[in-house]
Amino acid sequence: MLKPWLLSMAMAMGPHPSAAAQEDVRPDVGFVPTPQPAVEVMLELANPRPGEVLFDLGCGDGRIVITAARRWNIQGRGVDIDPEMIRISRENARKAGVDHLVRFEQRNIFETDYREADIVALYLLTWINVSLRPRLLQQLHPGARVVAHQFGMEEWPPDVIRHVRHGGERHSVMLWIIPANCTGDWRLTAEGFPADAELRFEQLFQHANGTLRWGGRIEPLFDLTLRGGELAFTANREEKGGITPVSFSGRILGHRMRGRVRWAGGEGEMVSEWTAVRNPATMRSLEPSEKGRGPRSFRLKKRAPRRPRRDSIKER
Ligand SMILES: C[S@@+](CC[C@H](N)C(=O)[O-])C[C@H]1O[C@@H](n2cnc3c(N)ncnc32)[C@H](O)[C@@H]1O
Repeated sequence: MLKPWLLSMAMAMGPHPSAAAQEDVRPDVGFVPTPQPAVEVMLELANPRPGEVLFDLGCGDGRIVITAARRWNIQGRGVDIDPEMIRISRENARKAGVDHLVRFEQRNIFETDYREADIVALYLLTWINVSLRPRLLQQLHPGARVVAHQFGMEEWPPDVIRHVRHGGERHSVMLWIIPANCTGDWRLTAEGFPADAELRFEQLFQHANGTLRWGGRIEPLFDLTLRGGELAFTANREEKGGITPVSFSGRILGHRMRGRVRWAGGEGEMVSEWTAVRNPATMRSLEPSEKGRGPRSFRLKKRAPRRPRRDSIKER
């Protein structure tokens, strides 16, 4: 059975009645508002911080941008292809007393630059999210958050998913944290460690794994975590017949990483600084490769985003 909200989104897929006279206004999906309880959960997951900027791509009546400005006092930008939705958003912002924090623009989401955003909100269809995915990964900074209502990103799994009950329906709310790209070969320098040490990482979206080559041995990295630009991992070091786990934590900034390394020494825990520099030519995309496969260590199928006919209701 088709869910009522899905049916209304699909039925609204043609040009909005208010826009029918204007040739260039062709929404890829019609206006269906995110219920207010789901808006609240989207914003709680995104966890806005002072000074951040939120973008809603396809902002409808502006409710996500306006709620973020009212409750979190952050700046917002709403983009919608339908001029009538922009007019309604501006009016709603004025009524809510937040028009000094928000800006609404009539624009196509596929022609929008969202480099400035710390948070991007989406209530669009899966094929649209998937089409936007490469640009979200390229344009947003590591640690930026994408929150979506109901429709996901196919092979890119959310970091968090929550469900909200409203009007007898279950609404899914998803959060993705933009990961730094750690792919490629990095020359590692850490006090007291071999000078030829090299890290090698593979990565598919937020999931990474890798190896550390040092002292003529290649050790797999374990307990690897990557959250935004923060990276942590452990590698074994074999020395004088014994094995010592060595734990690295640090931050990725472009082609450089730096942080702290800890290991158990004869006199208790030892701590020192480490840095790594990437060979830029070895950096790879975070998306599955063209052959439909991720890096060797990942097994995910890539499906090309499908752009359905405007009257299609086959989404999901
Ligand atoms: C499902 S509504 C979501 C509204 C709002 N974000 C919310 O969650 O309440 C999708 C909105 O996207 C807009 N839209 C559809 N295609 C668009 C496009 N290519 N560029 C900009 N806006 C678009 C529609 O006009 C509609 O207002």
